[in-house]
Amino acid sequence: MSGQLNIVVGVTGGIAAYKAVNVIRGLVLAGHNVHVVATEGALRFVGKPTLEAISRNIVHTDLYEGVAEVRHVAIGQAADLIVIAPATANTIAKLAVGLADDLLGNTVLASRAPVVIAPAMHTEMWQHPATVHNITVLRSRGVTVVGPAVGQLTGTDSGPGRLEEPDEIVRAALAVIAPKDLAGHRILVTAGGTREPLDPVRFLGNRSSGKQGIAFALAAVARGAEVTLIGANLEVAAPGSMRVRHVSSTLELAAAVEDAAPDVDVVIMAAAVADYRPAVIAESKIKKELAGDRLTLELVKNPDILARLAEARRPGQVIVGFAAETEQDADALLALGRTKIARKGCDLLVLNRVGWTEGFGADSNSVIVLDRLGDIVMEASGSKQSVANRTLDAVAARLA
Ligand code: PMT
Repeated sequence: MSGQLNIVVGVTGGIAAYKAVNVIRGLVLAGHNVHVVATEGALRFVGKPTLEAISRNIVHTDLYEGVAEVRHVAIGQAADLIVIAPATANTIAKLAVGLADDLLGNTVLASRAPVVIAPAMHTEMWQHPATVHNITVLRSRGVTVVGPAVGQLTGTDSGPGRLEEPDEIVRAALAVIAPKDLAGHRILVTAGGTREPLDPVRFLGNRSSGKQGIAFALAAVARGAEVTLIGANLEVAAPGSMRVRHVSSTLELAAAVEDAAPDVDVVIMAAAVADYRPAVIAESKIKKELAGDRLTLELVKNPDILARLAEARRPGQVIVGFAAETEQDADALLALGRTKIARKGCDLLVLNRVGWTEGFGADSNSVIVLDRLGDIVMEASGSKQSVANRTLDAVAARLA
């Protein structure tokens, strides 16, 4: 199920309802068709126009609207996934006993799709035996419970009960319905940007945040793979659901990749790797008093990790490289991608345009995936997670 899905997002009446906007946005950016069912209580916290603008669909609330089209069951019947965020203690209690006194309750009962809930409430309510029992009942019925997180609650309170971060809710929800087509496979992903030290305090680096590589790693885990992530100076937290190794320079990355690659079926080289490093690393801080008005750095070439991987690949191993290019013209960009895959010798190349506002650090990406002949395998735009998933479709096809 990695095409466009019908996802129902239930929004219920708690202050965290405003964060549902980012959950909806994440699911839309992942390429899915999102229908919001908001309770009356939710609409006291967040406006219907906001939910409609972000979901790009009409928001449903009233059980007695759309009766002729049997809406109270139609929305649930058409759903591939139901995500309720935030889920209040009241909604959780109603779901546990199967109440259908509002449109959301009807939608859930009429659906056979997986249900994911993200609870949000005060700690006392979350830890109350009634809520604990209701959550146990829902879990035993196969409902996935995401969070709650521990942290600042409404007012001055803090503790368990805070809505999990929207990105995490989106990731966990999509993981529930991800195909398990990478089960039994080991995948190595590199992410982030290397830093080449000049002296003990300075380096030459790049603006890679690690988001795209981590999106690949998380998507691969969701699809059943055993993932090792090698992170170079990640700006975002490395996920806990995989083995993570941290490196900094290109030489460290090369050594870590060389160590891990022989044991994996797939390598995804999403890290932004420096082509050159300073020929000499100064033992102490370079002083401008000594360097004068101009300072010339001598750089030496780094090993091409990807090209080496491709050369040493064993039969059946799939090597995925990236190409980060600033070229604006579409044909010229494609030509650069074709030249790069021919030079690197990898099986697939994910070509993305980068610049001051594109690619690096952004939450979304736009890519063209090429095969060894330079033919276009697919094009994808959207969240880095959806780009990762579309590319993994091509990887899974090669493994099969
Ligand atoms: O991390 P984010 O902020 O989310 O940004 C994502 C990204 C833009 C960094 C990512 O999508 C991306 O394009 N990564 C590759 C960046 C890069 O180094 O591109 P390149 O065209 O310079 O290199 C081509 C390929 O060779 C890459 O797979 C790179 O990992 C690899 N390489 C490069 C140089 C080198 N010495 N060894 C290598 O293995």
